[in-house]
Amino acid sequence: MDFKEQLRHFDAFLLEKTHAYFPLPSLLNEAIHYSLLSGGKRIRPLLCLGFSQAFKGDQKIALRLAMAVEMIHAYSLIHDDLPAMDNDDFRRGVPTNHKVFGEAQAILAGDSLLNMAPEFLMKELRALNVDPNRVLDIVTLLLESSGHLGMVKGQSLDMDYGQKDLSLIDKTSLQNILINIHKLKTGAIIAWSCVAGLYSQTDDSQIQKNLCMVKSLGQRIGLLFQVIDDILDVTSTLEKLGKTPGKDQESAKLTYTNLYGIDGATQMAKSLIQEIYQDLEDLKILDEGKIILEIIKSLEDKLPH
Ligand code: IPE
Ligand code: IPE
Ligand code: MG
Ligand code: MG
Ligand code: MG
Repeated sequence: MDFKEQLRHFDAFLLEKTHAYFPLPSLLNEAIHYSLLSGGKRIRPLLCLGFSQAFKGDQKIALRLAMAVEMIHAYSLIHDDLPAMDNDDFRRGVPTNHKVFGEAQAILAGDSLLNMAPEFLMKELRALNVDPNRVLDIVTLLLESSGHLGMVKGQSLDMDYGQKDLSLIDKTSLQNILINIHKLKTGAIIAWSCVAGLYSQTDDSQIQKNLCMVKSLGQRIGLLFQVIDDILDVTSTLEKLGKTPGKDQESAKLTYTNLYGIDGATQMAKSLIQEIYQDLEDLKILDEGKIILEIIKSLEDKLPH
């Protein structure tokens, strides 16, 4: 299956399972549908499916892992947009969840999605007779990467440094803090998506052999993704982004563009892309990893020329 087919396949699966697990009518479930089914690039599911394909994994398992990470992602966006956090009015070209459903329902929709990700995986993977130890491993990794030592920690640091006077901190420290924030708030669940694709295959020795490299490649892809998100905040438009640009500058966020300028951030993105191609070559998945390559190419195309 190529990129477009995988995306169609995933979206159909997501639609069916969203209705099954979050039935309508229900105000809360409407708020959940609003954010889970409102498009988006689906990069995390596609990475999961891409790594599954590259390592000859089981498609049925991979689809479920892909949906779990998309639920975590949707929750993180609902909360990220809240007035207490980034206070954003638009997401994917439409008003943010709290603008439509109010803050209370938005918070609860996010909570439900966070809760449902592991619940969904345990129920669905059990029904597919996946080894319970395998399920425990993958769910533990998901919760670690999204929790207080992963994405949530990154969000906490992002908010904290948004309030500090950055001119009082030396540049080397800022560089280290920034890379840590980006690796946590965005890199951690993107890395999980790649690792999850690897975990969708049945050969344990293959998993153990490739785990470290896939994880570090996933972190690199995650970092690249956030560097590009920082660049687009400066260079893109509401129409193209579906969210209000210029917000990072306005709130004096610690971002790649604020620290290195557009050119510096673009150079960093380009060198990350070279490292990613090298990783794919080292893992010997350049041929089977067509979807991964398409994702990297689509990110590269967003960079200023
Ligand atoms: C936005 O993620 C939040 C970041 C981590 C930059 P995406 O850019 O993947 O959002 P959607 O799902 O495509 O809308
Ligand atoms: C959000 O980063 C990361 C998470 C939601 C975990 P941003 O705040 O930069 O994402 P956007 O720009 O609002 O999509
Ligand atoms: Mg944010
Ligand atoms: Mg934000
Ligand atoms: Mg951003």
